[in-house]
Amino acid sequence: MSSGEPRSQDAAERLLRKLKEIVGDNHVLAAEAHMEKHLVDWRRRYRGAAVGVVFPRSTEEVASVVKVCADAGIGIVPQGGNTGMCGGAIPSPDGHSMVVCPGRMNRVREIDPTNNTMTVEAGCILATIQEVAADNDRLFPLSLGSEGSCQIGGNVATNAGGTAVLRYGPMRDLVLGIEAVLPDGRIWNGLSRLRKDNTGYDLKQLFIGSEGTLGIITAVVLKLYPKPHSQLTALAAILDLDLALALLSRLRSELGDRISNFEIMSRNEFALVLAHNPELVDPLDAASPWYAFIEVTDTIVGDDLAAALEESLAAALESGIATDAVIAANLAQAAAIWRIRHSVTEANIASGFSISHDTSVPVSQVPTFVAQVDAAIAAALPEVSTYYVGHLGDGNIHVVVVFPRDTYATQDHFDDGVRAANAIVDRITVALGGSISAEHGIGQSNVGRLLQFKPPLEIEFMRSIKDLFDPRGIMNPGKLF
Ligand code: FAD
Ligand code: MLT
Ligand code: ZN
Repeated sequence: MSSGEPRSQDAAERLLRKLKEIVGDNHVLAAEAHMEKHLVDWRRRYRGAAVGVVFPRSTEEVASVVKVCADAGIGIVPQGGNTGMCGGAIPSPDGHSMVVCPGRMNRVREIDPTNNTMTVEAGCILATIQEVAADNDRLFPLSLGSEGSCQIGGNVATNAGGTAVLRYGPMRDLVLGIEAVLPDGRIWNGLSRLRKDNTGYDLKQLFIGSEGTLGIITAVVLKLYPKPHSQLTALAAILDLDLALALLSRLRSELGDRISNFEIMSRNEFALVLAHNPELVDPLDAASPWYAFIEVTDTIVGDDLAAALEESLAAALESGIATDAVIAANLAQAAAIWRIRHSVTEANIASGFSISHDTSVPVSQVPTFVAQVDAAIAAALPEVSTYYVGHLGDGNIHVVVVFPRDTYATQDHFDDGVRAANAIVDRITVALGGSISAEHGIGQSNVGRLLQFKPPLEIEFMRSIKDLFDPRGIMNPGKLF
């Protein structure tokens, strides 16, 4: 592990001076007040400390920064948009780390519409990448509630998922090449634009989901897709999750891969979002136990897609699979429906102390998972509220537990409640053959749970990989392991 230098004020100042020589005086922060937003996660669950925060502008600058920090023996914490769910971008409280933010590295280096690829620097904001792809008549499909502030380097490092995984896969499926600075300061140029390359181990996959523990990602080659020219959003009211699966199955048989999103939300979550966002309106006439947010897209222009979706939903209503449904009449209505879906996280946080689980189980097991979790939490923690939202098509459900502020007034009481809720969700997840982290990662929140649930042989291989890349343990200490 990191030796924890520089321990003296002098050593810290020497290090900061060297970093300023590399990136310029204005791109190193060291005052507590200036560093604040880089030392706390957005949920305010973790507070760290650091020698400084540094903002390099090029891969070469990142390499020099890493060398200087490695020589000083201090930890290096890569930080993108700081929207992560697991405290992975927050340094430990010991104050012996440097936070490295690639936010100034935000150039689109190349776009190749014929190869359907885009080479971008790690600090590019996800929404900007989506826009640039669209301006070139292409689609970059990753879509998250945080897309206005998360960075592509962070998306790769967390193997982000979001709402379009059903059709396009998670980040792991969207990357062709990676450039990264290794913990000893060497630059690895793996910016391949190839779709086929069978020359041994696929090193880029190690960096995808590595959460800053193997090196700093500085640029990536992304896959692009044809831009849809017909796009429709629907909201359906459903009585239970078995019927939600029946609806998904029917839509997939009838519309195939045109289904790009199929998300579900429980009634109490839907009501919470509306209560916290008075400008949002319920598009349906009556309340329903469950909702499905559906998006279908096609590259073909015309009314065929609308006709096919209308027909499928009408048949679903006729057969009782759905009890009501609305198709957005225009882009503004579609955006309003998706705003309900993308506003859950803020609404949950505003309503009390909340934790969001990130479970995946086989898609067919989702109804059993939710029924068992709901019953077990109600029995063990009667004062909490439990909400459900997630990516049904991926078997990825977020069980959100909100602890009322008055009952859980002390940190100890809250910690006990979190432990009890985690134990329930984990027990049921494992029994159903699921994963405790589908898309959010491990960071610092889930280190214990990773060790508990990942097979020992896999942990052994993961540790060997970490030791191979980072024998001194300076990259993002305390995360993942
Ligand atoms: P950060 O939070 O800054 O960092 C996350 C991790 O990546 C840390 O371990 C950090 O050290 C590492 N890292 C960051 N940049 C680099 C780099 N250049 N090189 C190496 N390591 C790096 N996530 C989902 O998967 N699906 C969702 O649907 C989703 N919805 C969200 C909705 C909201 C409202 C919010 C706030 C978050 C949501 N997230 C979701 C979580 C989060 O946005 C993603 O995990 C995102 O990929 C993190 O990107 P970031 O740039 O903010 O990374
Ligand atoms: C989502 O799907 O909305 C997220 O992953 C966010 C959350 O879990 O709060
Ligand atoms: Zn999610």
